[in-house]
Amino acid sequence: MTRPLTLLGLESSCDDTAAAVVRQDDTGTRILSSVVHGQAEIHADFGGVVPEIAARAHAEKLDLCVIEALDQAGLSLSGIDALAVTAGPGLIGGVMAGVMMAKGIATGAGLPLVGVNHLAGHALTPRLTDGLHYPYLMLLVSGGHCQFLVVRGPEDFTRLGGTIDDAPGEAFDKSARLLGLAQPGGPSVEAEAAQGDPRRFAFPRPLLDRPDCNLSFSGLKTALLRARDGVVAEKGGLTRVDRADLCAGFQQAVADVLAEKTRRALRIYMGESPAQPALAVAGGVAANQTIRAALEQVAAEAGARFTAPPLRLCTDNAAMIAYAGLERFRLGHVDGMDLAARPRWPLDTTQPGLVGGGRKGAKA
Ligand code: KG4
Ligand code: ZN
Repeated sequence: MTRPLTLLGLESSCDDTAAAVVRQDDTGTRILSSVVHGQAEIHADFGGVVPEIAARAHAEKLDLCVIEALDQAGLSLSGIDALAVTAGPGLIGGVMAGVMMAKGIATGAGLPLVGVNHLAGHALTPRLTDGLHYPYLMLLVSGGHCQFLVVRGPEDFTRLGGTIDDAPGEAFDKSARLLGLAQPGGPSVEAEAAQGDPRRFAFPRPLLDRPDCNLSFSGLKTALLRARDGVVAEKGGLTRVDRADLCAGFQQAVADVLAEKTRRALRIYMGESPAQPALAVAGGVAANQTIRAALEQVAAEAGARFTAPPLRLCTDNAAMIAYAGLERFRLGHVDGMDLAARPRWPLDTTQPGLVGGGRKGAKA
């Protein structure tokens, strides 16, 4: 019999202020509420997230998010068993705003406090949405993250590799900018690519000559820039067909590299003979149909189940933080008032840090 637990989660590590309530009992795990207030408009004029502005906006919105999340769940703080909060990694002002708010609520309401690694929140989401069993292989692919993780437990992760420069979503966004397409770049590039010929331009397949699971995407963006300039020099401009072919070539290169590196990561993971092998993909880039189909195919070849949480739970949210906190709390892990906000916090501390940071700042 599972002891029923209800956690309130807070997230403020980047540009989304979020609060959520998650409950687990004998009938399963349910998200009772999940409130996300994005800051995209506040940062739009700056071409990226401005940490100071983000921190201020989080401080202004966190209490409103908590009230909304409790309201939607039909609960007051007396119905909450513990409070989970993102304690890093992320933009430090935002993380501090969340941690301070959580400490205040925990003290005022007499609730246990559980600090959560933001990346653990992403990595554990397939357990919340699809009930995956440990260990499973996780590929995080977004504008800020790109890494392969073997997820063995709520605090037990092995990183098999990751990007050494840009995250793939970041490469999509920069490429879209180079072609005058709308942001976010991923969906724009995908729409153009649907009309294009992926074979017309020769894009590299970075790092495939190396046997490891590390990835690199900044060279692909440069290749796109060169190919674009070549066409412009020759014809004086880009036609719609040129743009579509450039997008298709770029997207296919990203898909090929992700598929091949996933094949290698799966080989390592399957070597451990997991009882219920599974590949989970999370992050905005997992929305790309070409990439998704390629990854699904690779999982099928390896005999692993393929899952991708719904997009609203792949992007930053507090339900994943409440859930990751719930798993930690079940293990009896709680934090004190000395819980620190951490700008960097790798999930796998046995590995050297990755160079790649991503558009939204160094994540691990
Ligand atoms: O996970 P996410 O919403 O936020 C973080 O970056 O944390 O991911 C956003 C990224 C953006 O870079 C966006 O261009 C990319 O995911 N993206 C896509 C697609 N939809 C969103 N990339 C490729 N194809 C898509 N359909
Ligand atoms: Zn995130």
